[in-house]
Amino acid sequence: MPLFTTTIDDCKLIELPKIHNRAGNITPIHGGKEIPFDIKRVYYLYDVPGGESRGGHAHKELQQLIIAASGSFDVIISDGKNKRTFSLNRPYNALTIVPGIWRDIDNFSSGSICLVLASHEYDESDYIRDYSTYLNLRK
Ligand code: TYD
Repeated sequence: MPLFTTTIDDCKLIELPKIHNRAGNITPIHGGKEIPFDIKRVYYLYDVPGGESRGGHAHKELQQLIIAASGSFDVIISDGKNKRTFSLNRPYNALTIVPGIWRDIDNFSSGSICLVLASHEYDESDYIRDYSTYLNLRK
């Protein structure tokens, strides 16, 4: 029985609400409403040097929502069989990532902010950081 049955098709690009007026925009997010899980943790990546990539792992349980709060970057997701690249560049778009999906994030624009909403607190034992281990778990 494979540990992971999720595929990249379970990861969706969603459009978040945008409250617009002449002084700018607001995007509100509630756990369990616009997104399919309760939010336990928020973190953000910033000051990523040009040419660097982040991610390079999968999670066993963690669900995440990734937003380009500022600037742009690419999220490459894979389930061991298929791969897809999402270019995030709007603060009202978000990519949901289900458990069992490998992700890399690269092509960060200068000054970009990668905002992540997560379903669980940080737990190193939830990570799979070795790609060949990941592929074995997907078999
Ligand atoms: P990691 O999740 O591997 O970063 P990324 O996927 O962005 O490349 O985390 C990098 C380091 O930061 C790792 O040593 C764990 C630590 N960390 C925390 O302590 N708390 C957190 O919420 C996160 C996301 C990472």
